[in-house]
Amino acid sequence: MRPALLRRAINRTKRAVNDAKLFALPHNYPGVRLTPKRVLNYWLVRWEQRRGHVRLRGYPLVLTVESTNVCNLRCPACFTGDGQTGRPKSMLPLPVYERLLGELGDRLLQIEFYNWGESLLNKNVCTMIRGAADKGISTIISSNLSFPMDDARAEEIVRSGLHVLGVSLDGATQAVYEQYRVRGDINLVFENVRKIAAAKERLRSSTPDLVYEYHLFPHNLHEIEAARARALELGMTLMVSKGWVAGPDWDEKGEFKRRLQAGAGPVRLSVEPRHRA
Ligand SMILES: C[S@@+](CC[C@H](N)C(=O)[O-])C[C@H]1O[C@@H](n2cnc3c(N)ncnc32)[C@H](O)[C@@H]1O
Repeated sequence: MRPALLRRAINRTKRAVNDAKLFALPHNYPGVRLTPKRVLNYWLVRWEQRRGHVRLRGYPLVLTVESTNVCNLRCPACFTGDGQTGRPKSMLPLPVYERLLGELGDRLLQIEFYNWGESLLNKNVCTMIRGAADKGISTIISSNLSFPMDDARAEEIVRSGLHVLGVSLDGATQAVYEQYRVRGDINLVFENVRKIAAAKERLRSSTPDLVYEYHLFPHNLHEIEAARARALELGMTLMVSKGWVAGPDWDEKGEFKRRLQAGAGPVRLSVEPRHRA
């Protein structure tokens, strides 16, 4: 075959493979129930995205629900932590959430129940999660878990049907952890993780998956191995990613990849500098 014909055949095959990929099923949404409505909407959204449509007929695939913009910690690189949000502190009213769920829920793949506040401070958040999980939507939350929690609350979280609970834990000891999680108490966090793990056992529930979210900064690089051991002991998956800071990137030379390790299941970690010295 002549080179030009061969090139054309290769390009045509590449295009066909890409088009076929468009119709793959959505993955990476733990616990989602794939109904025909969800799958068709997913394909429509991807099609519109591929074609660069600006008038959209597809519905959102993922919704971020900020159940509150209040937070108990004062993390220095967070808008809430350093008081920059400029909005009144409030809780999302349940009826507003229910309206959103009614409007979008049949097509949503996932709801992220967190953004800039501490969602578990909203006493209705488990009811919100329950409503989404009952509709077959994947649910995920990130929490600092650094507040008093009793066994009843731990059971409520498990019973809500939450699929993934990320716990913001950038250290393995109080001295390192509190440098970013200002006002946080690492032992309280560990105690709460144990309560939730015990509630999962009592209720014979495999969810939520517990994730040790370790954001990497210069001050905590040396505690990753200790965090790995702690995560293993607590039955958590360790996820390490580069932490952002206010001002210039701390990793000036780009030595660390943005996401170093992720995934469900047992602890998996190897923190690898992008360029070895
Ligand atoms: C602003 S927090 C609010 C949610 C919740 N209060 C918490 O602490 O997880 C939302 C997400 O941003 C992450 N986060 C906070 N500061 C970060 C940083 N400097 N770099 C990367 N991620 C950060 C948190 O770990 C969490 O997963």
